[in-house]
Amino acid sequence: MLKGENLSKVYSSGIISPVEKKAVDNVSIEAGEGETVAIVGESGCGKTTLAKMLMGQIKPTCGEVYFYGKNITAMKNKELRGLRTAFQLIPQHPDDAADPRWTLGKSVAEPLVIAGKTAPGEIKEKVDKRIAEVGLGSELKERYPHEVSGGELQRMVIARALTLDPKVIISDEATSMLDVSVQAQIMSVLKQTRERQGCALVIITHDLGLAKAVADRTYVMFAGEIVEEGMDVFENPLHPYTKALLSALFYLDLKISEPEEGVISGQEWCRYYSRCTERTEECKKKQILRESGGHKVRCIKYK
Ligand SMILES: Nc1ncnc2c1ncn2[C@@H]1O[C@H](COP(=O)(O)OP(=O)(O)OP(=O)(O)O)[C@@H](O)[C@H]1O
Ligand SMILES: [Mg+2]
Repeated sequence: MLKGENLSKVYSSGIISPVEKKAVDNVSIEAGEGETVAIVGESGCGKTTLAKMLMGQIKPTCGEVYFYGKNITAMKNKELRGLRTAFQLIPQHPDDAADPRWTLGKSVAEPLVIAGKTAPGEIKEKVDKRIAEVGLGSELKERYPHEVSGGELQRMVIARALTLDPKVIISDEATSMLDVSVQAQIMSVLKQTRERQGCALVIITHDLGLAKAVADRTYVMFAGEIVEEGMDVFENPLHPYTKALLSALFYLDLKISEPEEGVISGQEWCRYYSRCTERTEECKKKQILRESGGHKVRCIKYK
């Protein structure tokens, strides 16, 4: 249903002497109807950039995104607007999706009003339903974003994303600021939505426990690349990075050995080289993603 092929994104910042940063490098990813896919990886590895490319919010430097076989990367803005209802990104920061001038109720109703296909009475009914689903009291409908907590605002953003019955939902750390019980409630709402509509669910998270609990398939990202993907990544991790992520010692290890400068740009060795405890001389070359043990892994050990 949703497919990203060989996606790369290079950001250029600075005016006088622009610096280029390859945030995502040749990533291929797909999510089928009714499937839940997780993308995990540490801060800065390119997850949000990848999500925005999949949603058509930013243009990839290279590569294409297909939705039911249609190349959306090649679409003009007007055509892309027609897909806005089918694609919903629940952003990492709720402030990005909440208009400070509108009450929460108005924000949740707005996508339906703009789509213009729902009668006013039905809009109210749908808004109330979605707000209740995410565990918010109806009195919050009259409040403005600055009058609610961060977690309440995030739930309003989730309710808003669900109002249009999307075909693809990408949740970018959307539940990270919620406590465990509310997080479970939201995940259950997303799961119900997926079952009801057969939509594809892409969950971006630092929380490996969450990914393990919800994902049919998982992609592990490191320094802009997919280093491992498969259905049993948590049960059978192969890449040294995935193993480190799953180990309690990961954060300790991170303090001891920071990635080397330039690990992303221009470095043709395995990108995990400087942190890998299993490295050998053979790792001093670019690694490709290979099939191994029922999933894909980017490590010379599994050639
Ligand atoms: N607009 C931009 N211009 C320049 N660099 C950017 C831009 N947006 C992101 N980056 C850089 O690209 C890299 C990937 O960023 P991205 O936001 O995709 O990471 P992430 O995996 O979502 O991180 P986090 O888990 O912290 O949200 C980072 O090094 C970031 O600093
Ligand atoms: Mg992010």
